[in-house]
Amino acid sequence: MLFDPYPKNNLNDLYDRRAEIERLQNGVKYPLTVIQGLRRTGKSSLVKSVLNDMIYIDIRKYSGKGYISYRDLIEEFNNAINRDLKDRLRDVFKNISGINILGNSISLSWKKNRVRLIDVLNAIDDYYNNNNKNIIITIDEIQELIKLKGYNFLNDIAYSFDNFKSIKFVLTGSQIGALHNYLKMDDYNSPLYGRAYTLIDLKPFNREQSMDFLKKGFNEFNIDFNDAENVYNTLGGIPGWLAYYGFRYVNNSKDPMNETIKNARNTIIMEFCNFIANREMAFKRYYLILNKCIERSSWSEIKNYIENNEGNIIPNSVLNKMLNNLIDYSFIKKYDEKYELIDNMMRYAFKDRIKCGNM
Ligand SMILES: Nc1ncnc2c1ncn2[C@@H]1O[C@H](COP(=O)(O)OP(=O)(O)O)[C@@H](O)[C@H]1O
Ligand SMILES: [Mg+2]
Repeated sequence: MLFDPYPKNNLNDLYDRRAEIERLQNGVKYPLTVIQGLRRTGKSSLVKSVLNDMIYIDIRKYSGKGYISYRDLIEEFNNAINRDLKDRLRDVFKNISGINILGNSISLSWKKNRVRLIDVLNAIDDYYNNNNKNIIITIDEIQELIKLKGYNFLNDIAYSFDNFKSIKFVLTGSQIGALHNYLKMDDYNSPLYGRAYTLIDLKPFNREQSMDFLKKGFNEFNIDFNDAENVYNTLGGIPGWLAYYGFRYVNNSKDPMNETIKNARNTIIMEFCNFIANREMAFKRYYLILNKCIERSSWSEIKNYIENNEGNIIPNSVLNKMLNNLIDYSFIKKYDEKYELIDNMMRYAFKDRIKCGNM
């Protein structure tokens, strides 16, 4: 069903994306593929629909946390391996220090005799190599690992890249600047510097695709829908919002548009609150910038807006840093020397004062 509000895991439920599907299928023949795309454009759906033999790790659940520990990372691998490798486990992890096999499950220890992640990867690679197969490790929303303390996971990816034949990494990120700041593929001092990779840029649907998506989705319910143009004009082309609208509509919601806006608004506010979690002092200023960017605004218009609101001067360097952060985290974009919100639905989120926790 196209209107399923969860990530798809079946190509039959994935609308279009033919070019991206092909690019991903090709990409995973090589060590590293990166998928970038705004929240709700279908990154997880693409990965789950296209890739079969895969260890899947979702880092998004740490987005509200201040930091991530090595233990968290090991736990994620532990759970993913148990879920995704199933009966192959025993063969894979026979003689590795720090791994206990108990009946049908394995347990990676992170404390006494702590397991080295690279040993785990090595064992997985050996097993698949011996069986002449590849195994894909997907890390969804990997930019969150920027908060991983005391351990640099990029070293493991780089080591895999250089030494393992069978492991192929797929990394995704919604906060596109932050994703690249984390991966640092172009930074001479970074572990991943200079490695070749396949980049997939997952864009929102255009007008035509959006309307066709709605039409096909409604067709599955034998509904002849003729309001697609209006829906696109309000929601824009992000598949997640369109699918949610369709889902509410076919489930007889009284006001599917309003509910979709509410849902999008909540999602965006939650993301903003996560973004602000380590930046509490600047909460109000960030909010004011976003509020101002509902209409396309120049740098000095934004500066004036904050200063008039605060009655304080905001130093240029501070404002620049904040604008760059908002660009990195995919809240705004800069275009022709003006700044604006990146997604139509954000105007609903940043129209009125918002609350994050106690702030
Ligand atoms: N190509 C697509 N066809 C059908 N539904 C899609 C497509 N892309 C995304 N969706 C829907 O949009 C929502 C968000 O998709 P998801 O894969 O979770 O996005 P992301 O991982 O980029 O945040 C889900 O409800 C999903 O079913
Ligand atoms: Mg996702």
